[in-house]
Amino acid sequence: MRGQLRDAASHHDVLPEGLVQRHVAESDVELLGRLMADGYRGTMDDTGEDDAWHHTEAAATLQGHYGAVLWDASFVAVNGPQLAGTCLVTDGGSHLLLAFAIVVPEWRNRGVGAALIAESARALLGASHVEWTLAVTDDNPARRLYERLGFVPDESLRRTSRDAGA
Ligand SMILES: CC(C)(COP(=O)(O)OP(=O)(O)OC[C@H]1O[C@@H](n2cnc3c(N)ncnc32)[C@H](O)[C@@H]1OP(=O)(O)O)[C@@H](O)C(=O)NCCC(=O)NCCS
Repeated sequence: MRGQLRDAASHHDVLPEGLVQRHVAESDVELLGRLMADGYRGTMDDTGEDDAWHHTEAAATLQGHYGAVLWDASFVAVNGPQLAGTCLVTDGGSHLLLAFAIVVPEWRNRGVGAALIAESARALLGASHVEWTLAVTDDNPARRLYERLGFVPDESLRRTSRDAGA
């Protein structure tokens, strides 16, 4: 999917009480691995990966496996010592990539995902970017959120996306 940053940036969802937002940091690898494990468990993208797999995935992500992390535009919502959610953006080369939007089950459907994505969009817009992309599986209910934030399907991305969907 492809979106205009100004569309997502115009959303002003606020984090629910109890959550605080900050930038993603390189030292977040443990917390991010835990967030990925908890966030993907039981979803349609869960094919049985264990905690160690998610930890490796988190480390690879922060090391640039999906493109250099755009630290200034990548955020986590923090709940005490744990992460409640993230919007992590990378430089995919020819396009910016919203690489991960994840919120743990207990904080879902309260605007956390939308708030973090909109914050990332404002940061990217402030750095003079115009649009961004993401990959999402075709039947993922997250598509509704992405569409609400201005993303539209883009068949031209399908071959280059790491997932089947575009
Ligand atoms: C997608 C996700 C980040 C949304 O976070 P959130 O904080 O619940 O999002 P918000 O409260 O801002 O918005 C809720 C929207 O999430 C979407 N949603 C609802 N249930 C969902 C589910 N089971 N899985 C994914 N998205 C869902 C809907 O679009 C919903 O809005 P709507 O009911 O008005 O259409 C969160 O559901 C999640 O972490 N899902 C699992 C990981 C995932 O699939 N990530 C996207 C992969 S590309």
